[in-house]
Amino acid sequence: MSSLRNIDQLKKDLESAARAAGSRKQFMEAVARQLHDRMLKYNWVGFYMIEKGSKGQPDMLVLGPFVGSMTPHSRIALNQGICGAAASSGKTIVVHDVKSDPRYLACSADTKSEIVVPIFAKGTVVGELDIDSHFRAAFQQEDIGLVEYCAALVGQFLEKFGARESAEAIKTAAATSSSSKS
Ligand code: SME
Repeated sequence: MSSLRNIDQLKKDLESAARAAGSRKQFMEAVARQLHDRMLKYNWVGFYMIEKGSKGQPDMLVLGPFVGSMTPHSRIALNQGICGAAASSGKTIVVHDVKSDPRYLACSADTKSEIVVPIFAKGTVVGELDIDSHFRAAFQQEDIGLVEYCAALVGQFLEKFGARESAEAIKTAAATSSSSKS
C-alpha cells in the first residue's frame, strides 16, 4: 500500500486514533502499529523520546513504543547516530543508503534506508519518529509527508497530555511493544 489515496486514509485513521486514545502510550503504539502494518516498506517503526539529563548528565534519547525487532540502541546520545542528528538539529533526516552515512548506528543488518522526524511540543523537540526499511531509498516525497504528518500529530497529542514525557511511561511502553513483520 502506498498510493496517495491510501496514505490519506491512513492519516484519517490516525486522527481517529488520536481522538480515541486515552494515553500517550496508547496513541504512540497505535501510530507505530499502523505505519508498520499498512506501509509495507516500513520494517521497523518506533519512537525515541528525550529524557532530560540530571546532575550534569546530558539529555538522552530513550526508546519508546516500537514495532519491529528489538534494537540494541535503547538509549542514544544527542551527538550520536541519525537519531541524535535529527533530534539535535530539529530537522527531518532521510538516508537513502545507510551504508553511505557514517553517522548511522546499525539496528538490523537488513536495514537499507531510514527516516527520522523530530517531534515538537510547544516549540521544543521532545522526541522523534524513526523508521527503517529493508529497501534502499524507501522514503520518497509522499513518505516524508506522511511521517512528518504523524510526528506533528503525536506532538499535538503530547501537548494535550503534557509536553514533557515521563521517561518511565515511555520505557514501559517500549517493553510491551512487539514484532510481527520484520
Ligand atoms: N539507526 C539509528 C538507530 C536507531 S535504530 O535504527 C532503531 C541511528 O542511526 O541513529
